[in-house]
Amino acid sequence: METHGELHRAILNNIPDQAWLKDTESRYILVNEAFLVACGRTEAEIIGNTPDKVWSSEWGKVYLATDRAVVASGVRRRYEESRPGADGTPRWFDTVKMPVRDAAGGIVGTVGISRDITDRKRAETALLDSRAQLRQLSAYLQTVREAERTRLSRELHDELGQWLGGLRLGLNYLDAQPGAAPADQSAHLQMLKHLVDETIDAVHRIAADLRPAVLDELGLHAALEWLTESFAQHHGLPCDLAMPEAVTASLDSECSTAIFRIVQESLTNASRHGQPSHVRVSLDLRDGICHVSIADDGRGMDTARAAHGQRLGLMGMRERALMLGGAFEIESAPGQGTRVRVRIPARAPTTADTANVVSVTSLTNTTNETEW
Ligand SMILES: Nc1ncnc2c1ncn2[C@@H]1O[C@H](COP(=O)(O)OP(=O)(O)OP(=O)(O)O)[C@@H](O)[C@H]1O
Ligand SMILES: [Mg+2]
Repeated sequence: METHGELHRAILNNIPDQAWLKDTESRYILVNEAFLVACGRTEAEIIGNTPDKVWSSEWGKVYLATDRAVVASGVRRRYEESRPGADGTPRWFDTVKMPVRDAAGGIVGTVGISRDITDRKRAETALLDSRAQLRQLSAYLQTVREAERTRLSRELHDELGQWLGGLRLGLNYLDAQPGAAPADQSAHLQMLKHLVDETIDAVHRIAADLRPAVLDELGLHAALEWLTESFAQHHGLPCDLAMPEAVTASLDSECSTAIFRIVQESLTNASRHGQPSHVRVSLDLRDGICHVSIADDGRGMDTARAAHGQRLGLMGMRERALMLGGAFEIESAPGQGTRVRVRIPARAPTTADTANVVSVTSLTNTTNETEW
């Protein structure tokens, strides 16, 4: 039969938290195995000694003071502390100390339990960081939306307004001159047709800037071809695209949009910050993962500094990749060019992505059925 002492010890040694018992002078009477592991000493070095002899002097003094406070006040104390763990790396502990009383109610010592809460603390810190990032991102999205509205309103006003105003004037003229010579009327009609063409072009341009129809209609390959070609033309900067056309069929609309926007932001960054002489966009599908790379030979950057900056283009790209279960990394150094690499698990297009096609086929397939 085990004695009570052995039973107590078995229980104590089976709890993962550090546990100890001390007398009123703060001398250790009993400690469990988790305690030995945490302080990296043997039982013989601990029992009978005070904390300042067991722990590094700084922590030992703190423990001595809290023990005294518990003995003097008779009140339980609970606090969180950060100190180096057995391997020297910083860890967090949730510690409770309380008085032990004899039958008459007199304090005869203290008992303590200390729980390692490092993982929880890390998760809390990561959560706070990601909340802060989300707040930044949502503020950024608001700003972007306002900027987009301003740009759209300016383009509608300056471009469409101009062409439609011209059309109205031309129609007024024709209306006011019903008896004008046919040649004059014909010249005016030609001018009005020209204005209508310009208006149609402007509508196409504004719509394509908002969301390139080619992405929805012809898929990612065609959309990236359009993007890299118009980028090269607009910035006078050679921009290659290496991408097997077949990849398009393996990506649903969300993946395609994310990749398109990531490439778009990377190209904007390259021309805005890198001043490269060449940009290369490549996209490949391996083992169900879509690998995207946008590399420029520009002046590069200090990635640590860029990661801590307040700008949000890079953060937006990272969020897009993470939201789809992917990964984002940036390889760069001053004078070494920049390479953005993204991996996104490929997701095959769903029915919703091909809704138009499906509805046409289903109509054709069901025409002979009784309900039709
Ligand atoms: N291709 C690149 N070459 C050199 N520096 C770059 C490149 N891409 C990004 N950077 C650096 O990283 C910083 C952060 O880029 P990010 O896209 O997040 O912000 P931004 O382009 O300055 O502003 P925005 O929020 O409008 O995108 C940039 O300010 C720039 O200093
Ligand atoms: Mg940017």
